[in-house]
Amino acid sequence: MLILKLPEEIEKARASNYIVAEVLSKLREKVKPGVTTRELDKFAEEIAEKRGAKPAFKGYRGYPHSLCTSINDQVVHGMPSARVLKEGDIVGLDFGVCYKGFFGDASITLPVGDVSLEALKLIEVTEESLYAGIKQANDGNRLGDISAAVQLTVEAAGYSVVRDFVGHGIGRNLHEEPQIPNFGKKGRGIELKSGMILAIEPMVNQGDYKVKVLSDGWTVVTQDGKLSAHFEHSIAITDNGPDILSKLR
Ligand code: MF3
Ligand code: CO
Repeated sequence: MLILKLPEEIEKARASNYIVAEVLSKLREKVKPGVTTRELDKFAEEIAEKRGAKPAFKGYRGYPHSLCTSINDQVVHGMPSARVLKEGDIVGLDFGVCYKGFFGDASITLPVGDVSLEALKLIEVTEESLYAGIKQANDGNRLGDISAAVQLTVEAAGYSVVRDFVGHGIGRNLHEEPQIPNFGKKGRGIELKSGMILAIEPMVNQGDYKVKVLSDGWTVVTQDGKLSAHFEHSIAITDNGPDILSKLR
């Protein structure tokens, strides 16, 4: 059963997601050639702690870090390490917290210094596909309307959407029903209702959609070694349309 959130619960989810948005915004300034992904992880953790929020990923199914840092052909769940970001890389930063019992979750992909036009285009289209999906998150629409809008945007640009990982409902748990694929058909799936909170998160590959998990058990990479980008927002469906919780305002 899908749980519709009460207005006061949505405000708690907003507070949690605001902390996530703040962390991602501060990380934006830190991402430069020479920084290690471990430093980014530490920085994110410190800000969350200052706000009284608990990093949501640490310990989740045994994940050992607070931030996911996915570089170039890494799709999602890249693990912070001593690896140094270098000019021309792209890096996905995925962060979540739990604050006053409610989860927040969002992700951005950033260029490191000057990157190729191809990489920039991939980042742009991925973010655009997220907003196309969010635009469909209206009371009375179907889940498939979100999925189809993401997929159409991505494939029109010549890219592919990852199948093996999906978005999700979010609230008192990091992952709640429903699963939100980034591919599908308009008009299919459950009916969307005001009071639902959804984490929509397209993972977009430059080449083929096929991915594999590295032997560390976490890092997801493209099978063909080409680039991948990822954006995520947590949004509430309201009578006035989608309300993006994980943004600064
Ligand atoms: N944003 C991702 C998700 O919603 C991050 C999860 S990483 C994990 O699934 F470590 F928590 F699994
Ligand atoms: Co998520």
